[in-house]
Amino acid sequence: MDGVTDPAMRALQGELGAFSFGVTEFVRVSAHVLPKKVFCREAPEVATGSRTLSGMPVQIQILGGDPGLMADSALNAVQAGAGAVDINFGCPAPVVNRRDGGASLLRDCGRIEAVVRAVRQAVPLAIPVSAKLRLGWDTTEAIDDNASAAAEGGADWITIHARTREQGYRPPVYWEPVARVVHKLGLPVVANGDIWTLDDALRCLDITGCQHLMLGRGALADPSLPHQVAHALVLPSGETSDFCWLELFTRLAQWSSQVGETSERGVLRKIKQWGSIAHSRGNAPWFEDLKRAESLDEALRIVVEFDPGMTGVASRLKEGPRIKAEPGARVEAYLP
Ligand SMILES: Cc1cc2nc3c(=O)[nH]c(=O)nc-3n(C[C@H](O)[C@H](O)[C@H](O)COP(=O)(O)O)c2cc1C
Repeated sequence: MDGVTDPAMRALQGELGAFSFGVTEFVRVSAHVLPKKVFCREAPEVATGSRTLSGMPVQIQILGGDPGLMADSALNAVQAGAGAVDINFGCPAPVVNRRDGGASLLRDCGRIEAVVRAVRQAVPLAIPVSAKLRLGWDTTEAIDDNASAAAEGGADWITIHARTREQGYRPPVYWEPVARVVHKLGLPVVANGDIWTLDDALRCLDITGCQHLMLGRGALADPSLPHQVAHALVLPSGETSDFCWLELFTRLAQWSSQVGETSERGVLRKIKQWGSIAHSRGNAPWFEDLKRAESLDEALRIVVEFDPGMTGVASRLKEGPRIKAEPGARVEAYLP
């Protein structure tokens, strides 16, 4: 998720241990082929076997409408160390769509096929290539042709965010059209959209017939959700689902330092973004105060004031890197 699931967040999710894999924020291919150094910067996991330092496999996601530029960029990503490539046909942002990227390609299934085919042919067969789609630009029926086009182009699997571009992120999601694709295509399909609870996950699996789920905002709004879902599916689910916000934010700060994000402001911004997603589901009683925090130190103090119990946190915090905070910040002071 652009602006949210950066390398530090991916490392943290890997540490929590319930996700089978993660996907980078989209890397946009517009006027030029992206050189290897861009992928090394956007996805430092390429230097460690396409896994986070905490061990979670990571796919690099690229976005763009020009088959040639996408293919050459994908090859550079793989040569930089990417172990899998995902192609974004779902981003609804007007600034992206106006420049021929993301969901704008949902209006022409031939273009989806051409981009997937070009990328598939450019990278070695051992490297999976997948496509992330929405149901359509403005109709849910478009998914039939668009999913077939991605399959024809050679996608190894597709992920479907069960909304149209016109819907943006507004409810409801439409899982039924995903079921049609699952039955028609002989490809793994990953269902995505509005999975906020374990019950949503189970209903989604039931309605779509999918065996795979992608969790976005739900995993941030309730950090125990990936664990609950993985546990229900008898997958490796991490050691515990018992997280507290202070622990999570502290670990995010520590991972940020480890992956090279040394600006305290940047970390604070990410914590606020995460808090706002949790707040949207009523899971962040501290959010109104956190919003106004001017330092990491203050943010962590606010969170701990709302949750002074903090039992067991210290024992669960593993030895990790420490944030190179700016003068005045004392992250560790708040570890019980
Ligand atoms: C802030 C934000 C950024 C996102 N960035 C990306 C992105 O870079 N690539 C992508 O494939 N999807 C992106 N998405 C879409 C999510 O991956 C997902 O498809 C969508 O949020 C629906 O799933 P959810 O209800 O589980 O969040 C983004 C969503 C949000 C809210």
